Amino acid sequence: MHIIQSRQFGEVLAFQFGYGPIGKPLMSVYVYYVDGLIIDTGQRNMQKYVLESFRNLGPTSILLTHHHEDHSGNAYALSRFHGTEVYGHSLTAEKMAAQRKIFPYQHYVWGNSKDVNVKPIGQSFKSKNLTFFPIHTPGHSKDHLVYLEEKNGWLFSGDLFLGERIKFFRSDENIYDQIHSLKKMRQYDVDAVFCAHNPRLAEGNQHLAQKLQFLEDIIGQIQQLLEKGLSEKAVIKIMDPRNDRWAKLMTMGNVSFANIVRSAVRDR
Ligand SMILES: [Fe+2]
Repeated sequence: MHIIQSRQFGEVLAFQFGYGPIGKPLMSVYVYYVDGLIIDTGQRNMQKYVLESFRNLGPTSILLTHHHEDHSGNAYALSRFHGTEVYGHSLTAEKMAAQRKIFPYQHYVWGNSKDVNVKPIGQSFKSKNLTFFPIHTPGHSKDHLVYLEEKNGWLFSGDLFLGERIKFFRSDENIYDQIHSLKKMRQYDVDAVFCAHNPRLAEGNQHLAQKLQFLEDIIGQIQQLLEKGLSEKAVIKIMDPRNDRWAKLMTMGNVSFANIVRSAVRDR
């Protein structure tokens, strides 16, 4: 079963794609279209439907928030079909120039991205009628950018937000960088958070603040336990939510709650 939905949020058109060869998709991803821009490109496993959705829209540019396969999956195909450039962080450009190895679960859920030429984005990006500010927000990945459209208070947030509370990290996520990135966003007025997995259409600052608070609380709990002399392993055992086993098994340890604790210790 696949998910292909589109919704209009004012001027922003949101496409939701989910790939599920057997049963319901495990996760879906949003691809946004506004004023000629495609922001992130969805998973390659849904390429046929992604291309079909944009066929008659005539996009002028593609912006990527980061290199992960559910965001960059159709950048090559879309840019080739529409003859448009792809823009992103210079680190995204590096990542997208060389073949990326992904886990079996990532092949299953998303599919691997094809290499694509990404142009490093400047200080701001103008579409026909709007101006977007790329803001470097590492933590989820080193190359992560969010795109802020200040006039409307729109934040195309990639994977910066994901939810007020999260259960899992990939193994290379950095919790301190995420906290720093979320703090950085406090200086801006955000109304709609156009998240790639979990959009929030109003009171964006509050939703971002809740995520920040959640991460700070987790760090606090971990540090308290470590100060009592507990090992990293013992802390994981005490704090580990029960559903962690399943995620760990499915992803060969690439996605787990334990990775949050590991980052809190490793990246201190
Ligand atoms: Fe991601």
